[in-house]
Amino acid sequence: MSKPHIPLPDIEAQAAQCRRCPLCDGRTQTVFGVGNPNARVLFIGEAPGKNEDLQGEPFVGAAGKYLDELLGIAGLKREEVYIANVLKCRPPGNRNPRPEEIEACAPFLREQTRTIDPEFIVTLGNFATKFVLKTEIGITRLHGTLQQAGKFKVFPIFHPAAALYDGSKRIALEDDFTTLGELLAIANEIEDK
Ligand code: URA
Repeated sequence: MSKPHIPLPDIEAQAAQCRRCPLCDGRTQTVFGVGNPNARVLFIGEAPGKNEDLQGEPFVGAAGKYLDELLGIAGLKREEVYIANVLKCRPPGNRNPRPEEIEACAPFLREQTRTIDPEFIVTLGNFATKFVLKTEIGITRLHGTLQQAGKFKVFPIFHPAAALYDGSKRIALEDDFTTLGELLAIANEIEDK
């Protein structure tokens, strides 16, 4: 028999107490996730940045503003999806997450995913994609292709921040959000039949 799902506020409270890796020493607060607890689509980013650490919510800085625009392309609103990160604490200077930090933090995202039980997981960038798909294949090859991880449909997309640094990624990102909107519409039609 499968384990019962842990309510999100309980997982959040456990994360807030976490001292499993040194990132806890530099955090203002943990950034657990935000959105609809029954979301059909779960977006997973990398880790909180400075603004997220201060405000306690994922994707509230420049990348977050752009993410809100991209959600609109797929016909989605921020309130109807759920947004989380691989890491719940900010790495200093926004450096990349380290393997041991990802491993220490992984149980929170795993339980969060089990409880939300989305139909689609959209992985934003390399860290989330590698975590969810357990692959070494990079986001440049995987973005915009529908994958499966267990019961979940997984759709890897470039990280929105990548397009803020490299404008050439904007078109790919916007095309992938268009495709996401189409995939959601097709899945809806199948459900309605
Ligand atoms: N980048 C991320 O991956 N997550 C955030 O919450 C903010 C920026």
